[in-house]
Amino acid sequence: MEHPIIRFISKWLPVIIFSLVLIMSWSSCYYDKEEELYPPVTQCDTSGVGYQATIVPLMKSYCNACHNSSSPSGGIATDNYQGLKVIALNGKLYGSIAHLSGYSPMPKGGNKLSDCDIKKVKVWIDAGSPEN
Ligand code: HEC
Repeated sequence: MEHPIIRFISKWLPVIIFSLVLIMSWSSCYYDKEEELYPPVTQCDTSGVGYQATIVPLMKSYCNACHNSSSPSGGIATDNYQGLKVIALNGKLYGSIAHLSGYSPMPKGGNKLSDCDIKKVKVWIDAGSPEN
């Protein structure tokens, strides 16, 4: 006579294994969700875009070396609000960083800004290029 526990296990073992496989495959599906492992590259958070928070750091990184108040290339200064507002309003800021035809592509001699950074600048311009 088999021990009742052995009998119980041999009777239910296939079911136990089947359930484990089911649980594991379910959880692996869950963790392998494509969006979680590879967030879409198009994701660009433009909420909270503002002059101080977004534009000032961008200009500092990519533009101010050539366009500062003390020696403004092409008569353009990007290191202060008044100077930047001029090219934000006349379309040259967006035209130059988006490399639109008819504008001198910026940053001069450097890589084009990322699509997300360009989008942020556009959001700021479209909002009326506010100072805050
Ligand atoms: C390496 C120096 C350099 C950097 C960096 C640079 N610029 Fe310029 N930029 C120039 C010079 C020189 C001119 C004038 C000659 C010309 O238009 O190409 C100019 C011209 C411009 C113009 C006028 C373009 C037109 O079509 O009339 C704009 C607008 C401008 N820059 C914006 C920017 C912005 C915004 C950045 C940062 C993303 C930037 N620049 C980075 C050197 C630079």
